[in-house]
Amino acid sequence: MYIIIGANGFLGSYVLKTLVSNTDRRILATYHGKKESLFEGRVEWAKLDVTNEEDINNLAELAGDISDCSIFYFSACHNLDLVKREPEFARNINITALKKFLDTFKDAKNLYFSSTDCVYGENTEDIPCFKESDITSPVSEYGRQKLEAEALVTSYGFNVVRLPFMIGPSILQNKKHFYDNIVEKTVQGEDFTLADGLWRSALDYESVADILFKLTNKENVPQILNLCGDNSLSKYDVGVLIAEKHNLPMKHIIKTPEAEIMKLFYEVRTSSTAMDNSLLKAVLGVDEIKINI
Ligand SMILES: NC(=O)c1ccc[n+]([C@@H]2O[C@H](COP(=O)([O-])OP(=O)(O)OC[C@H]3O[C@@H](n4cnc5c(N)ncnc54)[C@H](OP(=O)(O)O)[C@@H]3O)[C@@H](O)[C@H]2O)c1
Repeated sequence: MYIIIGANGFLGSYVLKTLVSNTDRRILATYHGKKESLFEGRVEWAKLDVTNEEDINNLAELAGDISDCSIFYFSACHNLDLVKREPEFARNINITALKKFLDTFKDAKNLYFSSTDCVYGENTEDIPCFKESDITSPVSEYGRQKLEAEALVTSYGFNVVRLPFMIGPSILQNKKHFYDNIVEKTVQGEDFTLADGLWRSALDYESVADILFKLTNKENVPQILNLCGDNSLSKYDVGVLIAEKHNLPMKHIIKTPEAEIMKLFYEVRTSSTAMDNSLLKAVLGVDEIKINI
């Protein structure tokens, strides 16, 4: 069976959609805040607050044979500014709860954990694209917590994917994505300001979900893998792609100096964190991984 922890999130919902179209195996999806009823009937929904031990034990009971479980673990406190402001609150979700979960599900068939490019830090002239073997030097508390979480996950023999900035229209009933806001505002004739910077190897949710599904069906996947697109894109570049896709008036996509946007954040952000995806391409046997807006 498949279990998705955090299926009421953006990535979780896309993975759910991929699983429903590609497998007949049982699917157990967990929600935290508002319940998403996506694919009700085909998918079993269970409430899970990862910080609640009783919820974790109930989930294990519902799952039954743990050795038959392929798990995607996406739940996290991942708003960089919130993690900076409330590090202990975030740590309880990102580390303490994760450890309890891993203890309970240690015999799972496999588990994929969503980490982040934030574990690397800033690109340099010598390292314009981070490889998995490069030194990790996170500049944010979020990056440091994810790095600690990675160490836990790999110590149990499970897999980590380092994800870039992800984008795509929300398929959730209860939550809009930044993508939807860009489309809605510009259609209404409002300007949308996007940083001429914050370079990331961005990828769309659908492609990430598709790749994750393929990885769970492969043997001997490296324990740490960059899962990202081929090109490093600024936030403005991503906005332009969305505008092109929806034939939106380009004049409303406003390029703003990166330094202006940086002032709006409480936590430090890197200007550029591009990742190298050659290892992933070798595992998948593909030549390119392009963002599909
Ligand atoms: N978005 C990105 O660009 C990006 C980039 C790199 C890595 N990632 C990682 O990818 C994963 C998924 O992110 P996403 O984009 O899908 O964002 P998201 O929609 O905010 O997903 C996060 C999920 O975590 C759940 N969650 C938070 N606290 C929880 C708790 N105490 N117990 C159980 N679940 C809890 C949230 O549920 P509620 O909403 O109900 O609280 C939500 O479903 C995260 O691990 C994130 O660190 C994201």
